[in-house]
Amino acid sequence: MGELATENTGGGFLREAMHNRRLLGVALIAAIGGFLFGYDTGVIGGAMLFMKKDLGLKTNGMQQLTVAILLLGAVTGALIAGWSADMFSRRRTKIVSGCVYVIGAFGCAFAQSYWQILAARFWLGLAVGCASFVSPMYIAELVPPKIRGGVVSFNQLMITSGILLAYIADWGFAGFSNNWRWMFGVAAIPGAALAIGMFFMPFSPRWLIEKGREDDARKVLSRYRDSDDEVDREIEEIKDVSSNEASLRDLLKKGVRRMLVVGIGLAVFQQIVGINTVIYYAPTILKFAGQKNTGALTQSVFIGCTNVVFTIVAILLLDKLGRRFFLIGGTSILTAALVGLGVFFASPSVQHAVPWLALACLLTYIMGFAVGLGPVFWLMISEIFPIQMRGPAMAVCTMFNWGLNFAISYTFLTLTSAITKQGTFWLYAGFGVLAILFFVTLVPETKDRSLEEIQAELGADTDAALTHEREPEAARA
Ligand code: BGC
Repeated sequence: MGELATENTGGGFLREAMHNRRLLGVALIAAIGGFLFGYDTGVIGGAMLFMKKDLGLKTNGMQQLTVAILLLGAVTGALIAGWSADMFSRRRTKIVSGCVYVIGAFGCAFAQSYWQILAARFWLGLAVGCASFVSPMYIAELVPPKIRGGVVSFNQLMITSGILLAYIADWGFAGFSNNWRWMFGVAAIPGAALAIGMFFMPFSPRWLIEKGREDDARKVLSRYRDSDDEVDREIEEIKDVSSNEASLRDLLKKGVRRMLVVGIGLAVFQQIVGINTVIYYAPTILKFAGQKNTGALTQSVFIGCTNVVFTIVAILLLDKLGRRFFLIGGTSILTAALVGLGVFFASPSVQHAVPWLALACLLTYIMGFAVGLGPVFWLMISEIFPIQMRGPAMAVCTMFNWGLNFAISYTFLTLTSAITKQGTFWLYAGFGVLAILFFVTLVPETKDRSLEEIQAELGADTDAALTHEREPEAARA
C-alpha cells in the first residue's frame, strides 16, 4: 500500500477544523499570514491610480518597479524565513513577520518619495515571502495527517480573500483625500493581529522534535489529536521524515528530475499566463478599456469576488473531477479570455459595439485561473514529490514562481508600450497554449493515486535517486 498523494483538498480540512475548535483557532490565526500576502499584493492595483501623482511615479518603469519590488522582497523573505523557521521556530518567525507587516504598512502609508515607497514595498515583501512559506508549513504541521492536503487549498482561499479585501478597501477609500495612504495603512491591523495571535499559539510539533523536545511535542499534539495512539504514530512519522530528508543536491539526480520538471513547469506557467498583470493592474487595465477611476475600482471588486467564488468551487470539486480536468479546462478558458481581451484592444469598432467586453474577458480569465492553475499548482507541488524531498522541492518551485511573478509584473507596462496592449495579451495567450500542451503531455493525475503510481507515470525512480530510506508503512496515511 502506498502513501496517497493527498487525502483531500480544502473541503475536508474545513470540516475537520469546524469540528475541532482549537484547531480552527490556530489555523485562522496562522492563516492571517496568507490573507496579508493577498492583501499586500492586491492593494497596489487601486493605490497606484492615486499615488503615482502624489509620489511623481511618471514613467512606466517607476510604476512597474513600485509594483514588482515587493516580489523581490518576497523571494528574499522566503529564503530568510526557511532558515529562521528551522532555527528559531515557525511560531517566532510568524510573530516577527506580523511585526514586519505592521512596519511595512506604516512605511507605505507615510512614504514621501519614490525611494521611500520602494524601500517600504521591499520590506513588506519580506513578510509576504515569509507568509507564503511558513503559514502553510505551520498549519500543516499542526493538523492531523489525514487533512493535511486541504491546508494548501485553504491557504489559496485566504490569499484570494486578502486580494478581494484589498480591492474592497481600494474602492471604499477612493473618495477620501490621501486615500492611497489609508489603503496601505489599514493592513497594520491584521499584521498586529497576526503578531499578537501567534504569541499565544503553540510551537509546531515537528520543530519541537527536531530540537529534541519530544515531551513538549507530545503535549502539543495531545491537545489537537483524538487519541494517544495517534500522537505516538505521528511522533514516529516526524522522527523518520526528519532523519531522512533529501538535500537540494538530491533533487538533481536522474530518477527525480522529471518530477522537478513538472513542478517547475507548473510554477512557471502559473505566472507567465499573466495572472498578476490582472491581479496587480486590474484597475489600470480597466482604465485602458475606458473606465474612470471609480468605475475601474468597482469593477475590480467583481474580479476579486469571482476569484474567491471560483476558488471555493475548485476546492469543493477538485477531489471529484480531478486536477487535470481543472488544469486543462481552466487554462483553456483563460487562454480564450486573453484572446478576447486582445481583440477588444485591437479593434476600436469592437470597443464601441461591446464596451463591456474587456470586463467580461477579465472575469472569464480570473474564473479560469481560480478553478485551475491558482489552486492546482500549489496543490500538485505538495502531492507529486515523495515525503523526504517535499520540503526542498517545494521551496525550489516556490522560488521559480516568485521569480517569474517578478519578471511578468516588472515588464507588463513596458510590453504594452512596446508591442501594444493586444500584443501583450496575445503573448500571454500563446503561453496559455504552451501551458495546455505541457499539462496534456506531462502532468499526471494525482487524485486518488498513490505516490508510487504517480512516480511510475513520471518514470521516476526516487528510491534509487535518494540514498535515504523510504518512510515506513505506519507513516503513510
Ligand atoms: C498565485 C499568485 C496570485 C494568486 C491570485 C496564486 O495562486 O501564486 O501569484 O496572485 O494566486 O489568486
